[in-house]
Amino acid sequence: KVKMTIPQCREMKGKTKKFTMITAYDVLLASVIEKTPIEMILVGDSLGMTVLGYDSTVPVTMEDIIHHTKPVVKGAPNTLIVGDMPFGSYNTGIGDAIRNANRIMKEGGADAVKLEGGKNVAPIVAAMVNGGIPVMGHIGLTPQTAGQLGGFKVQGKDAEAAKQLLEDAKALAQAGAFAIVLECIPAPVAKMITEQLNIPTMGIGAGPYCDAQVLVTQDLLGMFDRFVPKMVKQYAQLNKQMVDALNSFYQETQDGVFPGPEHSFGMKEEDLKRLY
Ligand code: KIV
Ligand code: NA
Repeated sequence: KVKMTIPQCREMKGKTKKFTMITAYDVLLASVIEKTPIEMILVGDSLGMTVLGYDSTVPVTMEDIIHHTKPVVKGAPNTLIVGDMPFGSYNTGIGDAIRNANRIMKEGGADAVKLEGGKNVAPIVAAMVNGGIPVMGHIGLTPQTAGQLGGFKVQGKDAEAAKQLLEDAKALAQAGAFAIVLECIPAPVAKMITEQLNIPTMGIGAGPYCDAQVLVTQDLLGMFDRFVPKMVKQYAQLNKQMVDALNSFYQETQDGVFPGPEHSFGMKEEDLKRLY
């Protein structure tokens, strides 16, 4: 596997070959992804919900993202690693945005960062890109500001809202973003934006016409099973397999089946005789 570069990602624009990005927050999952052709890993602030137990991504800190980026970089040296900028790390101004992105790249080891927002964050994105930081955009359903959007709802449903999303996407491309995540928008809107934009679109709940597809790994592997959003396809049911495995361990312990001789250590006959 050879790591995709930022220019190679830009060149995926409009190609028939699609590319993919999924989340990881630790070395174990990163090393699994490293065995596949999946081009990018996102150390997403969704870790707040999937591994830290919060109800939203808002409480996630810079320390959380850096802490979880380090093992992912170790586990997947040939996969492009994108670190999510958490809520509060870029809404306080350009200086903070650059300082925090620098930390995700220097301390965490990420190759690029992602942040949420459209026109409103374009000046920040432009300054970051000018500073040498590869930035991925994220519009549509933006979980950090789901409160402002009135909850986790499909965005851009009417023509006016769809045109606003296109303006947002264009502002981000103009600012120098190398790709844009489109989350939870109607498939025809994602198609329209994908056609009008000169950088790759990466869809999650945005239909089949995007240049790339994105999913949360815990969702696609069926590890996180409290609820299954419509946009998620479960390619495995690992949560059920894990519960089954743990129940087997419990029961075999009760039944004296585990541990068997093959999992136990013996000793020499002469030492055995002197044991009692
Ligand atoms: O944090 C995350 O996992 C994300 C993806 C859903 C795009 O931002
Ligand atoms: Na995120």
